[in-house]
Amino acid sequence: MRIDVVSIFPTIFDALEVSLLGKARTTGLLDVRVHDLRDYTHDRHRTVDDTPYGGGAGMVMKPEPWGEALDDIVGDVERRPVIVFPSPAGERFTQATARELSAASHLVFGCGRYEGIDERVFDYAAELGEVRLISLGDYVLNGGEVAVMAMIEAIGRLVPGVVGNPESLVEESHEDGLLEYPSYTKPSVWRGREAPPVLLSGNHGAVAAWRREQQLERTRERRPDLLAD
Ligand code: ADE
Repeated sequence: MRIDVVSIFPTIFDALEVSLLGKARTTGLLDVRVHDLRDYTHDRHRTVDDTPYGGGAGMVMKPEPWGEALDDIVGDVERRPVIVFPSPAGERFTQATARELSAASHLVFGCGRYEGIDERVFDYAAELGEVRLISLGDYVLNGGEVAVMAMIEAIGRLVPGVVGNPESLVEESHEDGLLEYPSYTKPSVWRGREAPPVLLSGNHGAVAAWRREQQLERTRERRPDLLAD
């Protein structure tokens, strides 16, 4: 999978060089390319923002550097990419979104800052690919970078081969609409706390039933909204 990221803080994405995603980049499963939006400016101050038409607080990202960045990234590709703009005003990012996007061959992430990006950039991007405005959650971050880091991690680990044991992707929170069951390892008693005896019983049916019950109980307690869905 190819992933392009456009940001005015490209070094934030250095963190993608470590852990499982870092390994996937080394082995070529993920081809991640980070671009500095300021490289597509032409003035001495490398300006990416300006005051909003109509007035109001804050600054708006200018369309010209975005246009040049998108042309540079998408210009020579054969297939239309999915172009994601993280935004608190977008559709909600869920495990289903991550799974859907993990099937794309090329994702482009455009990280906005300030009060947002000139709206015409989204219209133009729609000529080059499938545009999605996606929110990490109902809260406001200073910019899209941290949201994109989270999305890349959630999407990247679903790309076949990135996580060594695909079994570990099946039994986790949100994959079946429920929260994950609790996990335990050795020692069987730690600081006076016992691991649930059923897990040491060797009875696979009883273990499966106990885990399912735990999933339901946790979901009822912590996320009743998931059960309503
Ligand atoms: N940018 C600022 N806040 C955001 C959010 N909640 N999700 C995605 N991108 C954002």
